Amino acid sequence: MGKVIGIAGSARKKGNSTTLMRTILKGVVQAGKDTKEVYLNGLVFKGCQGCERCTSNGKCILNDDLTPILDELKKAEGWVLASPIYYDSITGQMKTFFDRCRTFTKDPKTQKLKHQLKGKRKGIVIVTYADTPRKDYYHEAEKLANYLGWMGDFGKVEIISEGKLGPRDAAGNRPDLLARAEKLGKDLFI
Ligand SMILES: Cc1cc2nc3c(=O)[nH]c(=O)nc-3n(C[C@H](O)[C@H](O)[C@H](O)COP(=O)(O)O)c2cc1C
Repeated sequence: MGKVIGIAGSARKKGNSTTLMRTILKGVVQAGKDTKEVYLNGLVFKGCQGCERCTSNGKCILNDDLTPILDELKKAEGWVLASPIYYDSITGQMKTFFDRCRTFTKDPKTQKLKHQLKGKRKGIVIVTYADTPRKDYYHEAEKLANYLGWMGDFGKVEIISEGKLGPRDAAGNRPDLLARAEKLGKDLFI
């Protein structure tokens, strides 16, 4: 299968969640895979229109900057989703992207829930936040991980949910965390 694609949901290109995403991808490269980084904040795209047309023709009716990315994600061997926590949830950019992934959840013929992503793939969800470690923030990541299971056979989706990362360079100053992220990327895709 294809490459491993990282989707960054923060506007801070050098921020914590993106740093961890990029570090994971560094490990993925060591495992011999091709990678790609997507910065949602740099794309112009709409949210899901709720038309459910993707359920009858298998494709989203919208045609914008996200369209070629969704096509690439269909073929990708791994998805690495990274988002800060904003007001107890993922960012608007990540939520809007995730809603557009509706096209991967339903059988176009029967309109019933059925994986539309063919074959096995792997997933990692990263959330970063300023507060001390919180179970409810882990659950935010877990929700995305569970919904990936509606789209395809992702097996067990790995989660990095890390607190005490307020300043933009906080993750970059945590060698232990960076080492864990790099190892996760390498070990998962080797
Ligand atoms: C609009 C906004 C809302 C935030 N809300 C929360 C929050 O509810 N809980 C929390 O612990 N941190 C919150 N934070 C802090 C970020 O989650 C934290 O700095 C995160 O690591 C930023 O990730 P980034 O560097 O990848 O952008 C918020 C930050 C912003 C800008």
